[in-house]
Amino acid sequence: MDEERDSLASIARAVRDRIEWETALGSFGGVAAQLAAPAVDPQPRAAPERSAPAPGPKAEEAPASEPRPVVAARLAAPDRAAALRALDEQVGACKRCRLHEGRTRTVFGVGNPAGRLCFVGEGPGRDEDLRGEPFVGAAGQLLTKMIQAMGLAREDVYICNVVKCRPPENRTPLPDEMATCAGFLEGQLEIVAPEVIVAMGSTAARQLLQTTAAMGRLRGSFHEYRGVPVMPTYHPAYLLRNAEAKKPVWDDLKKVMARLGLPDPRAPR
Ligand code: URA
Repeated sequence: MDEERDSLASIARAVRDRIEWETALGSFGGVAAQLAAPAVDPQPRAAPERSAPAPGPKAEEAPASEPRPVVAARLAAPDRAAALRALDEQVGACKRCRLHEGRTRTVFGVGNPAGRLCFVGEGPGRDEDLRGEPFVGAAGQLLTKMIQAMGLAREDVYICNVVKCRPPENRTPLPDEMATCAGFLEGQLEIVAPEVIVAMGSTAARQLLQTTAAMGRLRGSFHEYRGVPVMPTYHPAYLLRNAEAKKPVWDDLKKVMARLGLPDPRAPR
């Protein structure tokens, strides 16, 4: 299981590295072709030299021998979109775990391929499974309102889930299912390279932070995933059942806005 996960993450890294090369050389010609090419090195390797310095300061600080922070990837938006499409194709063909048996469609991700902010949820529900898009049901509509309350549109951010296929009866994904799908999420975050991640609910927090701590203890402060600040907070589906959790979630989102330098549209002027 770990090997499969490592290999998926390596593929994503290899694709990104290849695009960086091709972009630097001015001859980028489509990620799907790159993926199919046998020359793609399956081993993780150091980032190639870029012709232009990456804008993210952390990218230059990272020693090559350590896991590279997600912010190391600074592809042009069209290249990120192409890399995401290539990864989405892999997700669409995936039968690595039992969840594929019950799916109507895989649910990859949606939004800005170069979004500064990424929301990570648990896994598709019924509506998402039918549409092939994350967060389109009742919880998704609440998420959209939360994003708008931040002064953003859904299209400004990137939205995805820990698992890409609907678990039966909307149950929580099992640890082996999360581990099997982890390479896809890692790939998405490598490509989008958000500046801040919001982990919505315990499943996302567990996967990104590798912790079993309760959400009540995790939320309210930033944690870290590969050098990227992560704000864990309650899942929108939880908010639908527990209106009193809206205030703490808004407090968490205000910290995210401050971190991104976004004005609070609700603050008195
Ligand atoms: N809940 C999630 O965690 N993800 C979705 O896409 C929808 C509901």
